[in-house]
Amino acid sequence: MSSIPVARVEREAELALIIVHSPPVNTIDARVRAGLSAAVQEIAADGTVSGVLLLCEGRTFFSGADMGEFSGPPREEEYRQLLNGLETLSVPVVAAMHGTVLGGGLEIALACHYRVADSATRLGMPEVTLGIIPGAGGTQRLPRLIGAKQALELILSARPVDAARAHELGLVDAIISGDLRTGAAAYLRTLLAAGKSVRRTGEMIVPAATATAEIFERATEQARKQYPNRSAGLVAVEVVRAATHMPFAAGLEYETQRVNECKQSGESKGAVHAFFAEREARRIPGLPQDVQPGPIEAAGVVGAGTMGCGIAICFADAGIPVTLLDANASALERAVGTIDRTYRSMVDRGRIGSEEKDRRMQRIRSSLDYGDLGRADVIVEAVFEDIALKQGIFRTLDAVAKPGAVLATNTSTLDIEQIAAATGRAHDVLGLHFFSPANVMPLLEVVRTTKTSPAVIRTAMDLAKALRKTAVLARVCYGFIGNRMMEGYAREAERMVLEGATPRAIDSALEGWGMAMGILGVFDMAGIDVGVNVHIANAQRFPPDPTYYQADFALHEAGRLGQKNGKGYYRYEPGSRTRIDDPQAVEILRARARSLRVAPRAHSEREIVERCLYPLLNEGLRILEEGVALRASDIDVVWTSGYGFPRYRGGPMFYADTIGLPVLLDGMHKYRDIFGPMHWQPAPLLVQLVEQGRTIAQWAAESGAGR
Ligand SMILES: NC(=O)c1ccc[n+]([C@@H]2O[C@H](COP(=O)([O-])OP(=O)(O)OC[C@H]3O[C@@H](n4cnc5c(N)ncnc54)[C@H](O)[C@@H]3O)[C@@H](O)[C@H]2O)c1
Repeated sequence: MSSIPVARVEREAELALIIVHSPPVNTIDARVRAGLSAAVQEIAADGTVSGVLLLCEGRTFFSGADMGEFSGPPREEEYRQLLNGLETLSVPVVAAMHGTVLGGGLEIALACHYRVADSATRLGMPEVTLGIIPGAGGTQRLPRLIGAKQALELILSARPVDAARAHELGLVDAIISGDLRTGAAAYLRTLLAAGKSVRRTGEMIVPAATATAEIFERATEQARKQYPNRSAGLVAVEVVRAATHMPFAAGLEYETQRVNECKQSGESKGAVHAFFAEREARRIPGLPQDVQPGPIEAAGVVGAGTMGCGIAICFADAGIPVTLLDANASALERAVGTIDRTYRSMVDRGRIGSEEKDRRMQRIRSSLDYGDLGRADVIVEAVFEDIALKQGIFRTLDAVAKPGAVLATNTSTLDIEQIAAATGRAHDVLGLHFFSPANVMPLLEVVRTTKTSPAVIRTAMDLAKALRKTAVLARVCYGFIGNRMMEGYAREAERMVLEGATPRAIDSALEGWGMAMGILGVFDMAGIDVGVNVHIANAQRFPPDPTYYQADFALHEAGRLGQKNGKGYYRYEPGSRTRIDDPQAVEILRARARSLRVAPRAHSEREIVERCLYPLLNEGLRILEEGVALRASDIDVVWTSGYGFPRYRGGPMFYADTIGLPVLLDGMHKYRDIFGPMHWQPAPLLVQLVEQGRTIAQWAAESGAGR
């Protein structure tokens, strides 16, 4: 722990500076609140101060509230006293912000009398994505300061705005260029010289024009649309509305009451679980204490196709030079074109500048010669999904890679043990399973074999962090965590379209429940051929069910490949990703169902959701029992970060506990009685836990497989 106090008061002549120092991101925990509170009291008692500057050292102004306190006793009262103390100081208080100022951090700034920020500052109120509302006065101060309409936009969007936008909104009074402390002190002195005094947000009145009935109606509508199945957005609208007619103190009381109700909601519990699950996934129990990660200063990627390009971009984005190798010169040329286009579109969308694009492009070197991979610390193979081909490449990598280099495969379905066995250094081999598009999707499954060394696992987890990926460690099995659980989920969706459900009915039911995209729409996006090829290559693994994935096969045989040729489960206008119902697709599916003699069936939305989700949850329990995933919450991370599972439902394992394992087991039995046992065998762990009356969370905590 550093010896610098968490909050100190410095004097610059007539000014007092409250300087907070709580690395890494000045999270507002109990120590910070206590330090801040002491500083405010010290200044209140000091008659010689004519203005106060509040600033934080390190990467950012207060980044937000301490999530670790979320499950503890309510802190709103403590926050309220602290912020009221700050706001009622009798001399002007200026918040000087930099970095990423979110939630509670911004609420502290709102309690100051003026706000300045450096130009790179980002400010936001992301609470609704955690199933709550701002709880430290934000719902009452923000609309008073910038107007109800603008406050609702900020709160409901949950996205940070940049300093320039914050200035336009009146959230920030001035943008400081150059040194923040110097600039902010000069700003404060200018205020004092102009005779400006305290300007308490709590004493302002919400501008009437920003708070009409129509504005609140529209916000309610937006909250409903943007956050289906959830209530925090709607609560936020109600509480902001209270700021327009309740006295400030009563509004704060009301906010506290409502935020504490929100914390008890399922959506909040799910979202908070998802947050902590991601944090926990980085911790790998069982690795020796002294294991050191290797350096990642240079990388190689073999195979310059869809995935190889995306992976090369990941490295270049992270500042790591990468050699992209392919056997085929024209494939390489295409790849460089693809990467260039990807970066160009980032420039066009204002995500990066054109100089940054050039820097990133320069980090990517293409090559046809394996000798160029000799300096790489990590090499990711992403060639066609063919075991003999991959083994041959790993033999070559064994010959050319430097000692200790991490040799990774991006395979989705092949046995990584067998790939590793092609080398004389199986301990350096593991899977790095990226998701498509690799430069966009946050999930990375890190797949260890029985031989992968602890140092290589450590290096891979650190690499994931450098690439800004959410890494989850898995063991080798068919499909690893994510795709293995997908198998039964998608199987039922495809089976139901053969039973007569329309693709739209399936996808709408899944999306209505909360999945980011229905699975049939996902297949159209990924390419129907991709799934078909996997099912042909692995036919011997799947149950002897003549209807198995036959919807995909039927569409594929009819030349429907999904979005790439404008027709799959749906049809698409050229250049558009909008799903249009297509009677032709339905007719192809019906014809296949007739030839397979699939009995038609009417499906309620509930049945659609249950039939897709129950096999998914059931497989999760098998994965847990087999130790393929380290912990239940890791499975949740895979599905929330890689498969569009709603965070507010926590993830599949959290959700299974939410509905109750007996409900899941009854559901498995119900569908087994209708469709037979082939696909509806409950996982042994499910049966066991139901018999014992335990939850997955309890089992995980007791077996060490939880958090
Ligand atoms: N596409 C996806 O959504 C996805 C997702 C996760 C993992 N994967 C896996 O990633 C891998 C690559 O998939 P993809 O979709 O990018 O394939 P792709 O067909 O787009 O690209 C494969 C590339 O490998 C090159 N190649 C073939 N033989 C080679 C050799 N001997 N040496 C060097 N290069 C060679 C080809 O020229 C081609 O450019 C596969 O193992 C696949 O299972 C794919």
